[in-house]
Amino acid sequence: PEVTPGDMTARGVHHASRAAIPARHLRTDRWWLVPAGTAAGLLVFVVYSTWRAFAGDDYYAAPYVSPFYSPCVAENCVPMKGGADWEIFGAWWGLSPALLILIFPLGFRLTCYYYRKAYYRSFWASPPACAVAEPHKKYGGETRFPLILQNVHRYFFYFAVIVALILTYDTALGFRDERGEWGHMGLGTLVLLANIVLIWAYTLSCHSCRHIVGGRLKHFSKHPVRYRLWSWAGKLNSRHALLAWASLVSVMAADLYVYLVASGVFDDPRFF
Ligand code: FES
Repeated sequence: PEVTPGDMTARGVHHASRAAIPARHLRTDRWWLVPAGTAAGLLVFVVYSTWRAFAGDDYYAAPYVSPFYSPCVAENCVPMKGGADWEIFGAWWGLSPALLILIFPLGFRLTCYYYRKAYYRSFWASPPACAVAEPHKKYGGETRFPLILQNVHRYFFYFAVIVALILTYDTALGFRDERGEWGHMGLGTLVLLANIVLIWAYTLSCHSCRHIVGGRLKHFSKHPVRYRLWSWAGKLNSRHALLAWASLVSVMAADLYVYLVASGVFDDPRFF
C-alpha cells in the first residue's frame, strides 16, 4: 500500500514512531524462497495425510502398521497381530480409525514453536521473512483468542510421548514375522526403525521438553541429573527445525511404505 511517512494513523512499521522508509523492505536477496518452499512442503504433507487419514484402508501389512493408524481405538480396525489394538470406541464409529488418534500428533505439530514460525511466515505472511513487513494492519501476537490456545503445546507434548512409546512398540513388532516369531527383518522393519528414531529425536528436542527437564531450577549444581538431561535436550533443541522436517518426511514415508505393501504394489524385501 501507498505509505505516507509520518502518518500517525498508520500501524505497525508504518507508524510515525518508526523510521519513515517508503520502500516495503530493503532486502535484495530472494527472501521469499524459504517461505514459499515451506508452504509447498507443508501443503504436500497436508494433502497426503488428509488422503491417508480418511482412506481407512491398507494401513496394515503384517507385521507392519502405519504410524497414522496406531494405536487403533475403534472397533472397525483391521485385526493386527499383537498391535496396539484397543477398541475403546465401539461399533458406532464408522469413519476411518486414524481420525480418532491423529488429533494428538497433529495438535503437537500445529502448536510446535517451529511449525508456528513456519506457517505464520509461509501462509499468513506475519511477517513473511526477517526485515520484511507484514501486510496486515494489526499485529496481535499470540496474546488473544484464538492464538493464545497455542499455549496448550506443553500438554500435547505429554500425549506425543505416549504416541512415540506406542510407535516404539509397533517398531519392535516389526522384528516378528507374520506368524509372530521373533528374528524377522525386512525393509519395512528398517523404515519403521528410522521413523521412530526421528520421531523420538523431534519429540525430545521440543522446547517444552527442555523446559520440563531443566526449567524452574535456581541451581543446576543441586540437580546434576536434570542438568544433564537439560543439556541433552538443548543439543537436540538446536536442531529442532531440521528434526521437525525429517520426522515429517519419515512418518509420511513409513505410512506410504505400509500402504504400498498392504495394497499389493510390491512385497516387503526380507533380509532375515
Ligand atoms: Fe516443536 Fe515442542 S516446540 S515440538
